[in-house]
Amino acid sequence: MRRKPVAVTLVGLMVLATCLAVGFVSIGGAGAGGGDGNSAGDADSDPDAVRRGRELYLTGCSSCHGTAARGTDIAPDLHGVGAAAADFQLSTGRMPDTDPDRQPEPKPPAYTRAEIDDLVAYVASLGGGPPIPDVDHPRGDLQAGGVLYRQVCQACHSAAGNGGALSLGNDAPTLHGATPVEVAEAIRTGPSNMPVFGPDTLTNRQVNSIVRYVDYLRDPDNPGGAPLGLVGPITEGLVAIVLGLGFLMLVTRWIEPRSMRDEPQGPLIHE
Ligand code: HEC
Ligand code: HEC
Repeated sequence: MRRKPVAVTLVGLMVLATCLAVGFVSIGGAGAGGGDGNSAGDADSDPDAVRRGRELYLTGCSSCHGTAARGTDIAPDLHGVGAAAADFQLSTGRMPDTDPDRQPEPKPPAYTRAEIDDLVAYVASLGGGPPIPDVDHPRGDLQAGGVLYRQVCQACHSAAGNGGALSLGNDAPTLHGATPVEVAEAIRTGPSNMPVFGPDTLTNRQVNSIVRYVDYLRDPDNPGGAPLGLVGPITEGLVAIVLGLGFLMLVTRWIEPRSMRDEPQGPLIHE
């Protein structure tokens, strides 16, 4: 009878610990799954954004693409390429280009996000082309994405998404640096000699599934749960063991003096 309070408290503590652990894991899961960063909004309908974008265009882009963006012998016409192409080229740092004779290279963006939005609004105002894709890859099907990836992307970007050399001195870059929106934009706009996959070839659902798979390829070992800064499963296991053992030690230390106080001369097991 006298031991009951201790047992009850212990059960209470364990329930609390389980709740904390479950809460921790689900918060971590939500953090890992959310946030695809489609931030462009509908800047293309804002005439001020178009005007600011045109000014940036005239100083940074017109030397190659022409003052009216009709293209020159070094760079293509931007009519009909659409918001997705402009956003992809600018947010991956490919544009402004430095050497039109070589394949554009991904590099840190030359413009701020606000400037990119303005430039995108200007290019979109020229008409045509796909809008910035509305990516919702956590709702994609990982399995189906893997099948599609192996069918249509793997030949150029390799099974692990590390990229590879193509003919004519071009290469297909690694996919590990692209954001989910940039992956969808690449699919819809086909930069350089990557093919364009329009909605007739791949539905939005299939794009979501491929983007989810590409996202998974970035860290195929992470089984989900709280990532602890993605230090790897061994360290994560270690942290769990240390925390768990520490907790158990605290509990035993706390029980011990109480039971000794309650029954100073009693045997360990009675009744
Ligand atoms: C030094 C020349 C140069 C400059 C400067 C330049 N571009 Fe380009 N741009 C190119 C070339 C060359 C291509 C074609 C690249 C390819 O397809 O391999 C291109 C392609 C593009 C495309 C893709 C078109 C498509 O069909 O998908 C967009 C969009 C674009 N540029 C926008 C811009 C914007 C916006 C700027 C200014 C911030 C800019 N470019 C500055 C040379 C340039
Ligand atoms: C025929 C070869 C080929 C195929 C097939 C192909 N790609 Fe590409 N991909 C390329 C090339 C080449 C580039 C580089 C274009 C450039 O730099 O302008 C590229 C660039 C990309 C990028 C930009 C990466 C970055 O961060 O700079 C992404 C993302 C991408 N591809 C995803 C895909 C996905 C997803 C598929 C399958 C649906 C696919 N690609 C199929 C050749 C290919």
